[in-house]
Amino acid sequence: MFEGKTVLITGAATIIGTEVARVFANYSADIVLGDIDEDGGRRAAAELGDRAVFIPLDIRNDESIEKFIAHAAGTTGRIDAVVNIACLYGDDETTDVRAQWLDVLNTNIVGTALMCHGARAYLKESGGAIVNFTSPSGHVAQHGRLQYPVSKSGIAQLTRSLALAYAADGVRVNSVSPGWTWSRVMHDITGGDRARTDAVAAGFHMLGRAADAGEIGEVVAFLASPKASFVTGAEWAADGGYTALGPEQTTSAIAQLLQQS
Ligand SMILES: NC(=O)c1ccc[n+]([C@@H]2O[C@H](COP(=O)([O-])OP(=O)(O)OC[C@H]3O[C@@H](n4cnc5c(N)ncnc54)[C@H](O)[C@@H]3O)[C@@H](O)[C@H]2O)c1
Repeated sequence: MFEGKTVLITGAATIIGTEVARVFANYSADIVLGDIDEDGGRRAAAELGDRAVFIPLDIRNDESIEKFIAHAAGTTGRIDAVVNIACLYGDDETTDVRAQWLDVLNTNIVGTALMCHGARAYLKESGGAIVNFTSPSGHVAQHGRLQYPVSKSGIAQLTRSLALAYAADGVRVNSVSPGWTWSRVMHDITGGDRARTDAVAAGFHMLGRAADAGEIGEVVAFLASPKASFVTGAEWAADGGYTALGPEQTTSAIAQLLQQS
């Protein structure tokens, strides 16, 4: 599906970014991985093989974005898709709350916006596409979380606005919204316990488990491909039914009421 095409992927040093890249590699894309974590990024590129190169990238820094995009375009002479995965979770206790807000919003919203801006001319030339990463967290209040959900909500709006702005250039802009996905974060929280992750996820996802990152990657690849030629400005849920459940859980609330009466 991506033979002869070049795909840029930010935030590629950890499980989700690497597995999304693997999906594109399996579809024969040339992949350029970018991340602030240089060791992790190089490891990911080596693991993915000849089709992948790593270029250091800090999406908070204009010069770094410019260099990354110019270097990436220089590898094959073209850019066909940009996948913006890099993010900062934030939401930790801190003594400098303003700095934390600015860091999360600068990375997640401004960094994503400027990656899109930097690649726009190349994408216009190739008739390419952008896929951003949003989250169900951007639509609901979540205990103990502030900056991250606000930033993800901002990326959903950014996606809609850029879809209109770039439509005249023939560039489509969409986002994918994953449910719980087996990732560095899930790994760190559970000490690598996938079974526990799936057991807790079961209450919140109709499909009764967390996703594998490759399942998210397939949706990203579809959105980035000509198969999605009439899709733009959309936020695609790849969330095992998480969003569709709304405030419900997979168990019956009525059954709980009956039990307690
Ligand atoms: N893990 C989940 O269950 C889940 C659910 C919904 C959405 N998501 C989304 O998936 C994406 C990946 O999440 P993850 O859980 O794998 O997070 P992660 O923290 O493991 O990965 C984020 C990557 O971004 C990189 N990064 C951070 N700041 C950067 C910067 N300034 N410049 C360049 N790279 C930078 C990090 O080094 C890291 O490799 C995020 O956009 C997140 O919002 C994840």
